[in-house]
Parts: sequence; C-alpha cells; structure tokens
Amino acid sequence: MELARPPGPFRAEFWRSPLRGPWLASFLGSLLLPMIVICAVTGFLSHAAYNPGLDGNATQRAGDGFDLYFFDWPTSPAWIYAVNQGLHVITGIVAIPLLFAKLWSAIPKLFEWPPVRSPAHALERLSLALLVGGSLFVFFTGILNVQLWYPFGFGFLPAHYYGAFIFLAALTLHVAIKLPVVRRSFGERGVVRPLRDDLEHTRPEAYDHEADSTAPEAPAAPTLSRRGLIATIGAGSLGLFIVSAGQAIGGPLRRLAVLAPRGGDIGGGPNAFPVNKSAATAKVTPALAGANWQLQLEGPSRASLFRFQLADMEQHTEDLPIACVEGWSTTQTWTGVRLRDLAKIVGAENATELVVESLQPTGAFRKAAFARNQLDDERSLLALRVNGEDLSLDHGFPARIIIPGAPGVHNTKWVSSMKWTS
Ligand code: HEM
Repeated sequence: MELARPPGPFRAEFWRSPLRGPWLASFLGSLLLPMIVICAVTGFLSHAAYNPGLDGNATQRAGDGFDLYFFDWPTSPAWIYAVNQGLHVITGIVAIPLLFAKLWSAIPKLFEWPPVRSPAHALERLSLALLVGGSLFVFFTGILNVQLWYPFGFGFLPAHYYGAFIFLAALTLHVAIKLPVVRRSFGERGVVRPLRDDLEHTRPEAYDHEADSTAPEAPAAPTLSRRGLIATIGAGSLGLFIVSAGQAIGGPLRRLAVLAPRGGDIGGGPNAFPVNKSAATAKVTPALAGANWQLQLEGPSRASLFRFQLADMEQHTEDLPIACVEGWSTTQTWTGVRLRDLAKIVGAENATELVVESLQPTGAFRKAAFARNQLDDERSLLALRVNGEDLSLDHGFPARIIIPGAPGVHNTKWVSSMKWTS
C-alpha cells in the first residue's frame, strides 16, 4: 500500500526556485569543500596541540583513547597555535552562509516521498541525516563555543570532536557519491559559465525525473540571477569575516571584531589585553594569591618558593602570543623564570613531563601537562610580569605559565604547584 503524499514540502511543485539544480549544488559544494578541509585539518591539529597523550592533561579523555595524536606539539614558530586556531575559527564562521546556501540548494531532497523506498534508500537517507545533522551540530557547537556560551548539557570538547568524525565520514561518502554529478554538471554547463547570465538570461536547470535531482519540476520565473545569489552569499561571508577576524589578526582590525567576545576595545595599560577567564570566575581571591602564596615544586626533590624568591632568580623576557582555542590571540612581553631553571631546583632537568596546577578550585583546565620539547625550550617561562608590570590578578598573579606555541588554556594562570616526572 502506498502512503498518501502529504501536502506542502513533500510535493515537487512546492519547490519552484529556478536556481536549484545539480550545477548549483556542485558549485556551492566546491566552494564549501576547501573551507571544510581547512577547518577539519586545523581542528584535529588543535586537538594534537593539547598533547592528549600526556597523563596530566584535562583534555586527555576528550578523545577517550581515540585521539588523532602522532607527535609532540612544537614550540616553534611561537605563533603556530595562534595561526592554527585563527584559521579554524575564521573558516568555520565564514563558511556559515555557504553552508546555509548549500542546504537550501538541497532542501527538496530532504522531503522525499515516500520517506523510505528500500533498504538501500534507507541507508542513503541515514547517511544524509548524519551529513546534514553532523554539519549543523559541528558548526553550531563551534559558534557557541566561540561565543563562550554553553547552553547544552554536555561537554563541548568530546561532543565537537566526535561530531566532527561523524560529519566528515558522512561528507566523504557524499562527495564520493556526488562526484559523477559534479563532473557532469561542470562538463555540461561549465564551472563558472552560469555566473555570466544576468537575471534576464537566467534559465532553470533541466528537470530530469530519472536523475532524481534538485532541479524543479515546475520552475517559477527567476527573481535573482545565479551570480546575484553567489554575490549575496559572498557578501555574507565577507561581513562575517570583518566582524570576527580582527580578534585573531589584531591591530586596527581588532576594533571591528564586534561579534567576537574577545575582540573590540580592550582599554589601556600594560595588563590591557583580553582575559578569557577572570579571577572572579575561576574563584581565585586576592587572599589566595596574596603574600602567603608559595609555589610548590616537586621532582626527585621538593621545594617551596615565595614570590619574592622567584623574583630574585634570573629573569628572562620573551615576546610570546597567547592564543585561545576560541580564536583570539594577542602577543605580549612576558618576564619571569625559565621552566628549565625551576626544574634544576628539584633535580628534574631530565624530566619528560611537567604537570602544572592552578589555585583555581575547580574547572576543566585547573591543570595542564607539558612535554619534553616544551620544557626544554628556553622561552618557556613561569611569568611574574607582563609588559614591564606585575601580572594583574585576572592575568594570573602571582605567576602564570607561558609556553611558545601552546594553546592559551594550557598557559595556566595562578600557578600553585609544578610536578616533574620522567
Ligand atoms: C556541509 C556539507 C554538505 C552538506 C550538508 C550537503 C548536503 C546535501 C544534501 C542534503 C543533498 C541532497 C541529497 C542528494 O542529492 O543525495 C546534496 C546534494 C548534492 N551535493 Fe551536497 N552537501 C555538502 C557538501 C557537498 C560538497 C562538498 C559537494 C561537492 C563538491 C556536494 C555536491 C552535491 C551534489 C552534486 C548534489 C546533488 C544535487 C542534485 O542532484 O541536484 N555537496 N547535498
């Protein structure tokens, strides 16, 4: 028995835009694909930047043993994580208008009737549900994270990470299946030729019942040319670029980054650069970080140091970026003690891992672990000062970690203890 076709979007005559069809889907898909590739590669690199294999890392369980992690994250160039995350977040944001346009171009196929025709068709529809659902999930959890808004009741890191695997697997299958359609459409109509047509010359793509395409059966008259559509999408992407990219690129562009929570105007003074987590949010009080604070060091031997004792040690100054996973970055001049010099105090020169803990009582990033190459880099500091002044409480007073190329959240603030192991 055949199910009666419901009215509205389940009927072919509902979808009448003359712009839809295999060429448009191929063209939009070809624009989207490189952006998704950049976003995916930088996303997996960002996961590797947390050195998820080290025991002491808060993110260690994000991949739950399923971590794409083949090497110790390098410390040079020092801006490596800033560029990686800038690219990840900017391509993700700029791709949003394209993603919506791609979904719009394919939407009639989501209302196919009957919903399932055969086991093979059911599998195909499942893969499309994973593709569409996966893309929306990955893009929107990413955007919410950039906005530092977590309305969902699950952990962002593992959800975004596993969501990416599902989305990319479904996308790989989709592209492999659609490649012949892309080649045929570009072969027949040219890659960019349809963009030469103005509104008057805009014609619908041929409807082909056999090909089961998105081209409309009963096209309406065009109200927008294909180049008008692409220009509108491009303007949307450019607009998003302008209001978000400044947080990563910096300089005068930072003022334009009104959509980025860490963009915009950040005031003046040596400590006037973005704060991701304030001392109040982390529940670190001035009393906790006050005169009684002592840094606990542990290696083959143990030591405790007051801040004035750290300040009496040999000080080093380095210009290093602090680059947040949410895409913003800023380079500042840090002064403090080399991690190597602190390791010597407790006889830990040959340690292979360092776990740093913060005064903050709770939170995913109250501790971080570092690999040998990060400990050996002479630019890796326990910073006491920034831009010639003591760190402010919000920037990690009495002392914070700063390691070239490391993700911002690993540059632990309000350090309470450091433990070296081999
Ligand atoms: C986020 C990424 C993407 C999503 C969510 C997406 C979604 C969809 C959906 C739901 C369909 C309709 C189902 C179907 O025809 O089987 C479709 C069709 C299609 N897609 Fe994608 N797609 C994406 C990326 C791509 C890419 C990267 C390409 C090519 C490089 C591409 C090329 C096509 C083509 C050629 C069609 C067929 C259109 C037709 O027959 O009229 N898609 N897409």
